[in-house]
Amino acid sequence: MRALTLIPGQADSVTLTDEPDPEPGDGELLVHGLALGVCGTDKEIVAGRYGWPPEGRERLVLGHESLGRVEHAPEGSGFTEGDLVAGVVRRPDPVPCGACARGEFDMCRNGEYTERGIKQRDGFGSERWTVEPEYAIRLDPALERVGVLVEPTSVVAKAWEQVEVIGRRSWFEPQTVLVTGAGPIGLLAAMIGTHRGLDVHVLDRVDRGPKPELVARLGATYHHADAAEVMRRLEPDVVIEATGAGRVVLDVMSGTSGYGIVCLTGVSSPGRSLEVDVGALNREIVLENDVVVGSVNANQRHYRAAADALSAADTEWLDGLITRRVPLADFGRAFTAEDHDVKVVIALDDSQG
Ligand code: BGC
Repeated sequence: MRALTLIPGQADSVTLTDEPDPEPGDGELLVHGLALGVCGTDKEIVAGRYGWPPEGRERLVLGHESLGRVEHAPEGSGFTEGDLVAGVVRRPDPVPCGACARGEFDMCRNGEYTERGIKQRDGFGSERWTVEPEYAIRLDPALERVGVLVEPTSVVAKAWEQVEVIGRRSWFEPQTVLVTGAGPIGLLAAMIGTHRGLDVHVLDRVDRGPKPELVARLGATYHHADAAEVMRRLEPDVVIEATGAGRVVLDVMSGTSGYGIVCLTGVSSPGRSLEVDVGALNREIVLENDVVVGSVNANQRHYRAAADALSAADTEWLDGLITRRVPLADFGRAFTAEDHDVKVVIALDDSQG
């Protein structure tokens, strides 16, 4: 079978290699790969700036945003042939830390977790892959064209869960949410915001392409303006930050009103500095009981919430988020940004082209 593999740490080593079909381990599912989503993390891995191979190996199978169809399911696995599934990205650390021991591996304390397609475990970028049933998420068959969005949706389902839990430390009836960044994470966070009945606003640096319309079709408001100014105008109860851009991160952190919650989801590149009045920022956070929280990854609970959110969404809208589908043979195009990209997907199977 063909697999998308690379040497972590070595820029542009990504290529299609011929690999033996995977042998499912005891109790595992054998899955026919349908689609693979590409995100900023994949681009960083391709550029040689992130990622780790499995122990004792040079190459890693890339890909953590998966969608496939079960080809073989052992009896008692809870799955049957033909089920539409996605695989969970992270596995608990082997120690395990307290969080991993309790299934909260997305909150791993010692950093020794592994991640498919990212950290020491082969990913889902191959024509066939295997997965343990407890790390497979069954999807509504109606999601065949868009189910590949379940992983990024799980990331925002977790972010929203954190906002809820933090909000409940006192009286909490949020009305307005500002999402910064109208990429897949921002748009899916906005979608969940609308499912919660909130007044949703999305800010992005572009004023053309598909983003303004995708936001409007959610019933949300699009802003193409300075983040600090939008914060002043809206006084949002919640901010989901999905740009990772230093200036925007600072503007939302310092622009909250009382009891503001800012959830940071953007993985930024280090190395750029900004001048910050730390005293003013600290003062504002303290005097307003604000919270700034980081959020990454997701456990099975968040994947299930994500699968439900996708089932409840308009499939055509979700399809509109996938702005390019690239055949596996042309994988290189998937890692090169094009104008108006939102989510780019690699079709592992012709049916997804
Ligand atoms: C993935 C997460 C992962 C993170 C860090 C993100 O792109 O969605 O599952 O934990 O990268 O490796």
